[in-house]
Amino acid sequence: MCGIVGYVGERPALDVVVEGLARLEYRGYDSAGVAVLADGALATAKRAGKLVNLREALAEQTLPAGTLGMGHTRWATHGAPNDRNAHPHTDCGGNVAVIHNGIIENFAALRAELEEGGHKLRSDTDTEAVAHMLEDELASTGDLAEAMRKVCRRLEGAFTLVAVHAGDDDLVVGARRNSPLVVGVGDGENFLASDVAAFIAHTRDAIELGQDQVVELRKAGVTVTDLEGRPAETKAYHVDWDVSAAEKGGYDYFMLKEIAEQPRAVADTLLGRIGADGRLTLDEMRISDRELREVDKIIIVACGTSYHAGLIAKYAIEHWAGLPCEVELASEFRYRDPILSRTTLVIAISQSGETMDALMAVRHAREQHAKLLGICNVNGSTLPRECDGVLYTHAGPEIAVASTKAFLTQLVAVYLIALYIAQVRGTKFGDEVFAMIQLLAQMPEKVDEVLGTMEPVRELARSLAGEKSVLFLGRHVGFPVALEGALKLKELAYMHAEGFAAGELKHGPIALIEPGLPVIVVVPPRSRDVLHDKIVSNIQEIRARGARTIVIAEEGDTSVEPYADTLIGVPAVPTLFQPLVTTVPLQVFACELATAKGHDVDQPRNLAKSVTVE
Ligand code: AGP
Repeated sequence: MCGIVGYVGERPALDVVVEGLARLEYRGYDSAGVAVLADGALATAKRAGKLVNLREALAEQTLPAGTLGMGHTRWATHGAPNDRNAHPHTDCGGNVAVIHNGIIENFAALRAELEEGGHKLRSDTDTEAVAHMLEDELASTGDLAEAMRKVCRRLEGAFTLVAVHAGDDDLVVGARRNSPLVVGVGDGENFLASDVAAFIAHTRDAIELGQDQVVELRKAGVTVTDLEGRPAETKAYHVDWDVSAAEKGGYDYFMLKEIAEQPRAVADTLLGRIGADGRLTLDEMRISDRELREVDKIIIVACGTSYHAGLIAKYAIEHWAGLPCEVELASEFRYRDPILSRTTLVIAISQSGETMDALMAVRHAREQHAKLLGICNVNGSTLPRECDGVLYTHAGPEIAVASTKAFLTQLVAVYLIALYIAQVRGTKFGDEVFAMIQLLAQMPEKVDEVLGTMEPVRELARSLAGEKSVLFLGRHVGFPVALEGALKLKELAYMHAEGFAAGELKHGPIALIEPGLPVIVVVPPRSRDVLHDKIVSNIQEIRARGARTIVIAEEGDTSVEPYADTLIGVPAVPTLFQPLVTTVPLQVFACELATAKGHDVDQPRNLAKSVTVE
């Protein structure tokens, strides 16, 4: 979750680093700090709280105007979020500074060893131990990169580390294991960061660092080795997000901008994947058609909103591909002794590609020899590197913590994968796949249509700002949509919200219904007559008990009108594609209600955009 920025070049390092940290604020943090090196003098400043506090500290103390520096926004894991525990951390002599993202699992033993050796550690963090370990290694090697390699060989857990040493004002050293770190390659200057948003204002040329690699950053260039000091393979790529894509673009919140970007995001995720002959071609799939034909089970692992996308994928995969599909919370998956084999395809869905629960599930599946396919929105993140194949969503940077456009593009991705598998396995004839793809290609305009009718939803949301609880009901793919609507309201409005399968009402939840309780119901298309009729009965049941019924249904579905206190119409689309249009009102509803309550919808309390710890 932490934000990391490193810089060496010709510009004032402090400006570059603090600006970079500002672009990483969305990652969620509770303290911030910087280190700058000039003329052999290493200086640091750090404060609990947001960047505004750090800026105040920098106004109080003048740091040297060096052209080498690094900065950190911390999301506390070991040690309370206060000034003392904020990064950077330094060694005894104040000649080495370190910043860190992740968790060093063996830090207690390392700390004890250091203190026995006479080191005085001042914070409660796992990170500070690294600063003192580097101090010891530097004393013997005199080389910061070699010292970092030796230290990393002793660390257990997940880490991104960046360090500087007063003895060299042209060297920033970074290392990573199970935690993000990317290099930005400039002209006479180079950058390190947790993700590209920190440096794309300066360069869009990036290098993806691999597992257990150490990078030496100098003005003149970048050197990458493994932990033994051997030159390491890296992958250079061009970041196609420009600065404006990461700005708010005139909206009050990134979330509003990202909701509005959904038609484009859905369209972009379809781009280049439908061949002229109507057949699907999935780039970077890297799992052969033969292997796909051998697959006898699919398991989807994901968290949060991505898990809800997985629940919808299950309906599509079983319907089109005719394969059994299980959907698992990634945090539960590996503790359940799942039954995997070489013919199991595990699909991991993660917007950030850095969610530790998802990564650990993938590693467990790898150990069981399953085939691994990632669905991810961030090029250069860890998940794609750990899967056999990847299908990137092209939602662009999703800055707001609450996932919106990434979710809709994940749905497009799972539809593409289900149809591709159907195409490869022959469970759907080519013309059927082609017909579904043509309908899918119409979805961006359907989503755009929904976005144009959201004012009544905003008014409704504002009118419910004082409510204590909202329930969400759905059937079939509408059930995961109900779960997603509830999650959005929880994470943005901090109020009780719960999603249910409508058929479950009579098995308990109907006891929750009381006069005036708002209940949002997602109604399947009329073409699903049995399902449709059953949910209309459910609406009648709750209305009879005084619920305030808010119904999302196909435009023109008059059968629900008598039982809907509020009716929200969405365009008619095929059942499996309906989540693309029914989710949008729920996103807008949650965002507007939270805004009406005065919440910062981009950075909800207690949450981070990428949960990089288990
Ligand atoms: C969704 O609005 C939340 N921010 C959260 O549930 C998120 O979906 C989850 O943490 C998974 O993140 P990922 O897709 O980056 O793995």
